[in-house]
Amino acid sequence: MSGRETTERALAVHRLLNAQLPVPAEPLPMARHIPLPDVHPPKAGLVATLARRHSSYSFSDDPLALSVLSALLRFSMGVQRFVPAYGVEQYPLSMAPSAGGLDILRAYAVVRRVEGLDHGVYRYEPTSHALVQLTDTDPGPGLERAYLQEEFVWQPAASVAITARLDVAFDKYPLRHYRTLHVDSGVAVQNLYLVATALGLAGCAVAGFDDAAVGTLLGLAENEIPTMLFATGHPA
Ligand SMILES: Cc1cc2nc3c(=O)[nH]c(=O)nc-3n(C[C@H](O)[C@H](O)[C@H](O)COP(=O)(O)O)c2cc1C
Repeated sequence: MSGRETTERALAVHRLLNAQLPVPAEPLPMARHIPLPDVHPPKAGLVATLARRHSSYSFSDDPLALSVLSALLRFSMGVQRFVPAYGVEQYPLSMAPSAGGLDILRAYAVVRRVEGLDHGVYRYEPTSHALVQLTDTDPGPGLERAYLQEEFVWQPAASVAITARLDVAFDKYPLRHYRTLHVDSGVAVQNLYLVATALGLAGCAVAGFDDAAVGTLLGLAENEIPTMLFATGHPA
């Protein structure tokens, strides 16, 4: 079966599980490249960070510094190393391991309060450690449609959305990999939790969201599905 056919079958399973018909999302209009600042790794120890990590349901109004958002993305879902793989000399492997090392996941920053950034939706580009700004309007109303719990809409300074690209997944793997890409997303979520904790941020993994609303918010093509949200900001 071709990758395209497997992707179609995975989308059929996905729609069935969500009890949702696909809502064709408009691609978002902007494509402004914003390099992220270089950052030093947080100094907190691993076990202390594991022991301190918890989910937060209230957040302060303080904005995030751009360097803090940069560190969160860099150390949770940035590039860890390059290896010769998949026909290229420098294939990027992520800080979050994935099945086959495949570059399936994407991270988006949905920004309400980050110093130096417009509010809006941004796609993270790990290889160049940059953001691509996709919108410059308040994502609050879109987040209100996306999150099933109100506490994650207005309080967090930002939400990181993780998506999975089915076309990339099923060009290599059979349909069964529909499960594995959710495991990949879980690994990335734990990285987000731990890096956020090490940076002194509050955060919560959120599986309770409306898929079509997240697709619209992020302007996702049909073969890219949202898998997890992570709400973050300074602790209340
Ligand atoms: C995959 C995953 C999905 C989650 N989804 C939600 C969610 O939709 N809403 C929510 O309030 N908490 C969500 N959580 C947070 C869990 O409820 C929380 O991790 C759990 O109660 C343990 O608490 P702790 O993280 O403080 O240790 C999620 C956590 C994980 C790992």
